Amino acid sequence: MTDLERSTREGFTSRFNRDPLGLWSAPGRVNLIGEHTDYNDGFVFPFAIDRRTIVALAPRTDRLIRVASSFAEAAIELSLDELIPENLHGWSAYPLGVAWALGSYGADLSAASGFELYIDSEVPIGAGLSSSAAIESAVALALNDVWNLGLDRPTLARVGQLAENRAVGAPTGIMDQSASLLGQADAAVFLDCRTLAAEVIPLGFDAADLDLLIVDTRVSHSHATGGYADRRASCEAGAAALGVDSLRDVFEADLAGAAELLDDETFRRVRHIVTENQRVLDTVRTLREQGPTAIGPLLDASHVSMRDDFEISVPQLDLAVETARRAGAIGARMTGGGFGGAAIALTPRTLLPAVRAAVAEAFRVAEYAAPDMFVVRAGDGALRHPAHANALPTAG
Ligand code: GLA
Repeated sequence: MTDLERSTREGFTSRFNRDPLGLWSAPGRVNLIGEHTDYNDGFVFPFAIDRRTIVALAPRTDRLIRVASSFAEAAIELSLDELIPENLHGWSAYPLGVAWALGSYGADLSAASGFELYIDSEVPIGAGLSSSAAIESAVALALNDVWNLGLDRPTLARVGQLAENRAVGAPTGIMDQSASLLGQADAAVFLDCRTLAAEVIPLGFDAADLDLLIVDTRVSHSHATGGYADRRASCEAGAAALGVDSLRDVFEADLAGAAELLDDETFRRVRHIVTENQRVLDTVRTLREQGPTAIGPLLDASHVSMRDDFEISVPQLDLAVETARRAGAIGARMTGGGFGGAAIALTPRTLLPAVRAAVAEAFRVAEYAAPDMFVVRAGDGALRHPAHANALPTAG
């Protein structure tokens, strides 16, 4: 039993005075490339990371839901009869939003049993590593089992997205939940967000002696407010002006014509999406044909496009990216929705200490808060933990 399994189990037992039926977990994610392309029906290439959120759950015989977590004192209680997005607030909107969203995908919420749920997590919150999708995916998998729904993983990703859109109020795409549910160790998920066709592609970082360094700038961001929704609206306006269903249907060869039709800002938003889709395809091809050491320039170009065309970077992210590159990273970019969060730097293992030291020093000189830096590896997607995770004798 791992420490996280033990602490989650103990957390459940101490809050609810009984044993959980089981443990389910799901990871956060890093997006290697393909930013803001998901809600434009485009391509993304994220991977599940080796940091997980774990939930312990036991069904009840009545209609009551009780949720508790390691990051909040109070447990939240609600009857299934009151389960509507308007009643969901704060952190509990993530797990309870998933329970509600399952009602749109086949769960009969008027007959379902209540449950007790406890959440613990090692995915940093606010770092742009999708701690929210990790909660949603773990809860979706757990309730899919306990309520016997038989939903497949792409559908559970849709459930998590619906919870995020309606219960949390962030107009996000399908990428994060897909990475969390479909990821596999040492591989990334090449996802076509129009068809949801997914292919798991080996990354080979270890064999190439590369590490993926996260630089969490600790500039916090929220996708429920402001910039994220503005960018989405610009993309929709651009698609409408160009007469297409989504920017997925615009290609690099169309950009000269688009420049004539669109105002400068909308054109640059469109150009980011169009070129980013192509960069995802190029990254997958380059990885297959030449291996991971050849993808650096595509990561760099993605960052420049997000900084200058989509305008979702912040000075701390730019500094992290530029400094990591100068100190020896082979490619670097901000990752996730932007306006804060983390940058990634694909770094030869031997240069890792130099890159970390250079970024720490650059932040110190710029008088920015010290960033949090750590290496992540591609880990497995959501899973139910084997029964031995429950085998510990209960206290008391
Ligand atoms: C956030 C959203 C995703 C995606 C990224 C940007 O992580 O949750 O759906 O849009 O931003 O690529």
